[in-house]
Amino acid sequence: MPNPFDDLTMGGAALPASANPFRPGMGRIPPDFGGREDALLRARIVVEQLTAGVAPEFVLYRGVRGVGKTALLAYVRQRARQLGLATIHVEADRDDTELIRATSVLLRGIGELAAHGGEGALASLAVARDGPDGPRLKGPADAEAFEALVGDLGELATRLRRGVLLTIDEVHEAGDVLLGPLLRAAHRAAQDDAPLGVLLSGLPTAAENLFDEGQTYTERLARVDLGLLGAPGTAEAIRRPFARVGGVEVDDAVVEEVHAASGGYPWFVQPWGEALWDLATDPGRIELPVARAAGARVRVRVDDFYATRWRRVPSGRAQLLVQALAEQGGDAAMGDLLEVVDITHQAASPARRALLDLGICWAPGRGRLAFSVPGFERWVLSTRPVEA
Ligand SMILES: Nc1ncnc2c1ncn2[C@@H]1O[C@H](COP(=O)(O)OP(=O)(O)O)[C@@H](O)[C@H]1O
Ligand SMILES: [Mg+2]
Repeated sequence: MPNPFDDLTMGGAALPASANPFRPGMGRIPPDFGGREDALLRARIVVEQLTAGVAPEFVLYRGVRGVGKTALLAYVRQRARQLGLATIHVEADRDDTELIRATSVLLRGIGELAAHGGEGALASLAVARDGPDGPRLKGPADAEAFEALVGDLGELATRLRRGVLLTIDEVHEAGDVLLGPLLRAAHRAAQDDAPLGVLLSGLPTAAENLFDEGQTYTERLARVDLGLLGAPGTAEAIRRPFARVGGVEVDDAVVEEVHAASGGYPWFVQPWGEALWDLATDPGRIELPVARAAGARVRVRVDDFYATRWRRVPSGRAQLLVQALAEQGGDAAMGDLLEVVDITHQAASPARRALLDLGICWAPGRGRLAFSVPGFERWVLSTRPVEA
């Protein structure tokens, strides 16, 4: 056998595997964001305002798991840094009830900002102090200190004339514990015209109660819902990387196949793109037979994805609800599900909550329950994991 390192024609692929631009997997920035002009435009305006030293609107991106929230925030941070902004990223954490971890991330960010500000950059801030290993808090870490620290961040941004973009992912995890202090402080910073931007992301109902309560700081917080991609969005996400990276055209029939099979679910679109690239037979064009081969490969991966989700469903009522939901096509009224499972609303409530918190389901409307990933109902019905 020849050695693939010596014989570069080996591998036989029409397109070089190392140049494959697609990025399957949670949190990875896709080569192209299909169908996200509005979401990206909002973020661009925030970034532009920050570079101009203006206090922007805050944005909350919401959607089920796998629609691209984390990737979007990561991309915007990347672009913001290229434009000279400072960025700080926090991942909200359910167990961080005193906001100790979130506080330490902010302190680190403040340290990096202050490093460019020279001696005394932290002078007379509310709670941030110079310490031997970078900034520290004046007192103990708690929600109050966190709120004051966000204020300090705004103050520092103003002082140093440097825009700061704060992104916080998975905000549903920490809920009001984090959002209350954060938004209150950021709102005050905005009233002082501090160039502090806040982009948040979370599950579809993240922060809903804050809006229901009509908290004043929600006035500055725009909600942008990220859903499944429409056919044009899927087409962009597949076609653009092929065209840009490889000068490759993708047939309409292929794009239609990808959209039908993926349901426009961004997480699924990336393995589709990756497989089409790897299995290409013609360096200039992707045709239907390649899509058929790619489909077989993607199916294995997607089944694995469904199985992983299923393993997280607590046994008992939650599993029974999933089964009933699958039988009703993956989107149903709670009342109809309960008739099948034969339990009361009250008895089903913890199971329903667990499914929502796990991101397996979401509530597309009042009293409704739906799977958050397209095709999950088909998988449940064909594998019947409950009986297994
Ligand atoms: N607009 C998009 N078009 C195509 N693929 C996308 C898009 N947005 C995200 N993706 C891909 O979807 C997958 C899931 O993205 P991620 O940001 O982890 O979702 P979320 O944070 O909402 O769970 C990643 O592989 C990412 O590259
Ligand atoms: Mg995410």
